Amino acid sequence: MKSIGILTAGGDSPGLNAAIRGVGKAALDRNMQVLGFLDGFRGLMENRFIRLNKTNLSGILTVGGTILGTSRDKPNRMPIGGQKMDMTAVMIENYHKHHLDCLVCLGGGGTQKNAYRLMQAGINVVTMPKTIDNDVFGTDVTFGFDTALGIATEAIDRLHSTAHSHHRIIVVEIMGHNTGWLTLGSGIAGGADVILIPEIPFFVNVVAAAIEKRSRSGQRFSIVAVAEGAMSDEIAGDYYDALARKKAAKNKKARKKASAELNAVEERRKGHTLRLSRKLEELTGLESRVTILGHVQRGGTPSAADRLLATRLGTACAYFIDTEQFGVMVAACGDGAQAVPLEDVVGRRKSVPLDHPWIKSARSLGTSLGDV
Ligand code: F6P
Repeated sequence: MKSIGILTAGGDSPGLNAAIRGVGKAALDRNMQVLGFLDGFRGLMENRFIRLNKTNLSGILTVGGTILGTSRDKPNRMPIGGQKMDMTAVMIENYHKHHLDCLVCLGGGGTQKNAYRLMQAGINVVTMPKTIDNDVFGTDVTFGFDTALGIATEAIDRLHSTAHSHHRIIVVEIMGHNTGWLTLGSGIAGGADVILIPEIPFFVNVVAAAIEKRSRSGQRFSIVAVAEGAMSDEIAGDYYDALARKKAAKNKKARKKASAELNAVEERRKGHTLRLSRKLEELTGLESRVTILGHVQRGGTPSAADRLLATRLGTACAYFIDTEQFGVMVAACGDGAQAVPLEDVVGRRKSVPLDHPWIKSARSLGTSLGDV
């Protein structure tokens, strides 16, 4: 009989419980024992777990968040007593203490990397791609994205009421970390007039000109959907320079210096949505208001598409474990699931390609993407 452990790590995301249920029920059906470690990698380190069975796996399909709890703690940099410590060995020990055959890690890009580290330290892992950002490399889509897309789209729909009634600019900030999938998708679906994503550095004058053009044609309001990671052309230059220096750094000292430079640029990025709104008011003479959607986008009942995706990847995950296909991420591939080697996933991010059909569509509609 096989024994497996499951943990959820990184930000919570709609569909996590559906995935836990999918893996858990399919694993029980294949005669496996299933443990759920609490609060991500920290629970594995502290040996905090629950036994998952048909009873506690029931009734969770539609519940938001994760019944296992989560954290952003990394095995090799675990905050303990004010210090960051490498606790990989303790996790490996706990894995063996439970005689586990595999650890299933549900998470985004960071979790893929952390699971890979544990794999390199000698244990069997299988991962699943979750995040509202949809930025995990190697999968068609991540679960959580569809729900967040729906929430952000509905928010843009609702913001239209105030925008057109008060003849205002509404700048709505949408999550997505360093990628623009969520902003671009919801911006198009919600009919935003300007869409600003990290992949396309923007010029504030171009955005203002697009809004003024709308005003001149009688449309006295504009919705600007801006990704939390969007960058003005000026900041983008400094950001990519610092990033390139960090990647090229040959030793620890150079890496530390480049990291500090990158952090300084990140600091300058903070509050960019409020600054953008103020600048647009100044340049257009129109009233502008900001809405930051924040964690609302990750909350509540997962959409039907996310439940389906998480369930089909979860059940495929149990199959991959049973057939001993370890060291892989269970990726969505068309209507099916594919076992993608973790080394092909780790350290890569799925950004929006500049020739993506969504970008072409937005441009064809006359939506401004803030570039020249
Ligand atoms: O990765 C999901 C995400 O919601 C990102 O879109 C966002 O940048 C980040 O997590 C926020 O993280 P936290 O909830 O830890 O502030």
